[in-house]
Amino acid sequence: MRHVMVMNSKGGCGKSTLATNIACHFAAQGSKVALADYDPQCTSLDWLALRPDDLPPIVGVAASKDGLRSVPRDTEVLVIDAPARTHGTEMNELVRRAETILVPVLPSPIDMRACERFMGELLELGRIQRAQARLAVVANRVRENTLVFEELDRYLGKLKVPYLSALRQSTNYLRAFQRGMSIFELPEYLAWPDWEQWQPITRWLASKRSQPA
Ligand SMILES: Nc1ncnc2c1ncn2[C@@H]1O[C@H](COP(=O)(O)OP(=O)(O)OP(=O)(O)O)[C@@H](O)[C@H]1O
Ligand SMILES: [Mg+2]
Repeated sequence: MRHVMVMNSKGGCGKSTLATNIACHFAAQGSKVALADYDPQCTSLDWLALRPDDLPPIVGVAASKDGLRSVPRDTEVLVIDAPARTHGTEMNELVRRAETILVPVLPSPIDMRACERFMGELLELGRIQRAQARLAVVANRVRENTLVFEELDRYLGKLKVPYLSALRQSTNYLRAFQRGMSIFELPEYLAWPDWEQWQPITRWLASKRSQPA
């Protein structure tokens, strides 16, 4: 079973948004996908409850209640929506559950400072240093041609981990979320710019660069 985790100790940076879209991406490829929600607010499970029956199925796992015990045995890809405010041993425990970790970051001075601390802690973990888990960052909710995005772009570009893409701020994410869908399941005429921005992410997820040797 493959484990893909979306993680950042900062709240509201897009963990559930990325996790639900990644789950749909793998489900669309025909994989058996489960989505584990560690958030006590159950954002990802709420989204899943809205998912239409005719779309590729995803199994929900209430990980904030009983961990990963109820993940079906035949799951091929487990997408993990990690909780905000994780540090120390809890963070270490979570990182042990994944081989692929994605960190979304918002263009805001507060989020960048929080990210600096979070990445500092993450990069110190043995599992990351030994490359037993591969890490990448994604800018989220960006507005092109703003100073704060330029600052985030420079900051993420300097990190020693792959900086995959900058996802624009778009109502498409809200639209998809409200319907239990992903950005990939919206009509092309609406979502093609988002599809283009997701390409480096899905390419990375499909490549050996996102998995330990
Ligand atoms: N690219 C985007 N464009 C527009 N809205 C977005 C985008 N990404 C996320 N959002 C919105 O921002 C809000 C926070 O996103 P999300 O719930 O995914 O963050 P989170 O990191 O899971 O938050 P929490 O820490 O509370 O679990 C949501 O309302 C979501 O719909
Ligand atoms: Mg969330």
